[in-house]
Amino acid sequence: MLLPMNYRRMPIEIESPEQLGYSSIRYNLAESSVTDVIWDDLNLDLRGLVLQYGDHLGHPQLRALLAQDANLGADQVLLTVGAASALFMVHTALLKANDECIITFPNYGTNLETPLAMGCNIKRLELRFEDEWRLDLHKLEALVTANTKLISLTTPHNPTGTVLTQAEIEAVIAIATRVNAFVLVDETYREMSFTTPPPIAASLANNVISVSSVSKTYGLPGIRLGWLMTQNTVLLEKLLAAKEQIFIGGSVLDEEVAFQVLAKRKTFLEKTTTHITTNFAVVKEFMQQQNNLEWVEPAGGVVCFPRLKNLEPAAFYQALQDTGTYVGRGGWFDMPDTYFRLGFGWTNLETLQGGLAGITTALRR
Ligand SMILES: Cc1ncc(COP(=O)(O)O)c(C=O)c1O
Repeated sequence: MLLPMNYRRMPIEIESPEQLGYSSIRYNLAESSVTDVIWDDLNLDLRGLVLQYGDHLGHPQLRALLAQDANLGADQVLLTVGAASALFMVHTALLKANDECIITFPNYGTNLETPLAMGCNIKRLELRFEDEWRLDLHKLEALVTANTKLISLTTPHNPTGTVLTQAEIEAVIAIATRVNAFVLVDETYREMSFTTPPPIAASLANNVISVSSVSKTYGLPGIRLGWLMTQNTVLLEKLLAAKEQIFIGGSVLDEEVAFQVLAKRKTFLEKTTTHITTNFAVVKEFMQQQNNLEWVEPAGGVVCFPRLKNLEPAAFYQALQDTGTYVGRGGWFDMPDTYFRLGFGWTNLETLQGGLAGITTALRR
């Protein structure tokens, strides 16, 4: 029977470490977050928390905290179940079958997969290794039409780690505004930019939606807490309706945990920055020594997307598996397997070094 919504599981989820079993992977360089936090280390006090339905937009003080970063009001923030559900709600609120949308490619799977499942007319805004994965505004100009409903960006980018400048984001907004389209900016890695990031995109214009979560920077993917921001009150009302139809409200437990963590965010961010800086320096040095690998150096986040030079990918991945090292093959992003996503933020330094040694061994074979 033909089903109207063409859902299918994505390779990135089927082959994800959590599905394979974390304990089955010795050197896990496939992750895109910092190390997952252990509950005990958070030292939170949740006594007295009433497990009632929460505010439908989400924990008011948490929203107020998040809104400050964008100079927005708390009512312009909607808490979601991870960034993933925010992306789903934005796509389903803004698009219907056959609607034209322009989506950066490659990208985090859901950004492409939901519009695909909905039967939208997806135009890929291709980023190329040869262009250092930079957004080509001329290409965007060539793709955009009066029928474009949505332009979708991710910065810092998954899987390449490139970061858009404020001028680039503003140029995209100007193009979208001209044709009355919305701009979705997936900023899930924003707090892990290596230098001061541009302002939260939703603060720049009324037709922009920013999406993020505590999964990557705070190592809390298990509490499933994300958010979206927009100045557009009509759209926000629709997104709230979408949320209410799926979840009613969020988990008050997850929201309180995220609130207490973000209330101490400075300490967290300092730790994260030190960890990323140390691990990234090791990856950089490793890449400098490689003859069979090339890359575009990332500018944020905890992933990069190197490319094999003159090597047969199947043999490489087989050899890599023999070393106990796991990376995200290019196919996770609908790209050739000559590329792979290397995550350098999830493991400790020792495991990272073990994994990089595994890659060296696999490349030599
Ligand atoms: C760019 C990007 N957006 C969104 C997500 C979804 O993350 P979560 O739902 O855990 O917040 C991911 C996860 O890998 C991602 O890389």
